[in-house]
Amino acid sequence: MVRLKSTFTSIIAAVAILLIPAAVAKDQQMLALANASGCFICHKVAPDSKSDDLPLAPSYQEIALRYKDDSSAFTRLLDRVLHGTVYQDQAWGGEIGMRFMPPNVNISREDASALVHWILELEIDPVLAEKLILHDRMLALSTVSGCSICHRIDPVKESRVIPLAPSFREVAAHYKDRPESRERLLESILQGTQGNQKVWQNVNMQFMPPNVALKREDAVELVNWVMSLDTKGVPVRMDPPAGVRSSSK
Ligand code: HEC
Ligand code: HEC
Repeated sequence: MVRLKSTFTSIIAAVAILLIPAAVAKDQQMLALANASGCFICHKVAPDSKSDDLPLAPSYQEIALRYKDDSSAFTRLLDRVLHGTVYQDQAWGGEIGMRFMPPNVNISREDASALVHWILELEIDPVLAEKLILHDRMLALSTVSGCSICHRIDPVKESRVIPLAPSFREVAAHYKDRPESRERLLESILQGTQGNQKVWQNVNMQFMPPNVALKREDAVELVNWVMSLDTKGVPVRMDPPAGVRSSSK
């Protein structure tokens, strides 16, 4: 992985210019193995930007990108592929539709090991890589800034659950045709929403407290990121769920 890290950019460049025949043959072989092992029931090689739904599982390019600097990834991922992730931490929560990967019982350790090697060394489209790196960085920023205590990226699916705060995709969907609202969102985040007219009637909290420890430039980045989130198929429910009053007004 160290080698991969130091030559990461040059690998991308080299592969883009001349498609090395050996690499292509290896790809064909691994694609066939993954297919025969049922991996593609849930996974894709590259993320599918055309789909409306959250993917079932992370794409192999996203996995390669996430672990490219992580020298202990191979052993851990091999174990997760063989035994599944049911009783383990969720590595992709919020980004995919499934809670866990079931154990892959029909694959030999040797084949699984070849697949994990191949996945971790997949070359990644630089444009995609940049987008995914930004997304990961913003997820981390929203976690350290405490946003994820109240906000989720994706709307809750269960209609009886009232979330604490609107999910970021719902915020993006609600404001997407109003680019001028970025300034307002920025002020909401920095100063809180107490005293503003209540926008989100469908959430449990009355208002967002000011995020006092957040730097203005980080807040700007967070707003831009929230507004760039995919909103295809995201329902915007601003009203309280039937039979429930979320506000004490
Ligand atoms: C039934 C659906 C399903 C199948 C079949 C499946 N996976 Fe997964 N896989 C998932 C899900 C869901 C995750 C994300 C788990 C998480 O968030 O921790 C995942 C995660 C992974 C990861 C990353 C694990 C991590 O910790 O980040 C690898 C590598 C992987 N799968 C490889 C494979 C391979 C190879 C196969 C075929 C042998 C396969 N998967 C079959 C659903 C599946
Ligand atoms: C303590 C819980 C809490 C925390 C922490 C929190 N929020 Fe909020 N946020 C809310 C609630 C509740 C609302 C809905 C407010 C309303 O309807 O007045 C909201 C609304 C928003 C909105 C939409 C505002 C609008 O005017 O429609 C954005 C954007 C937002 N939050 C981003 C963030 C970001 C970024 C962070 C982290 C820096 C963060 N929030 C931290 C609870 C929280």
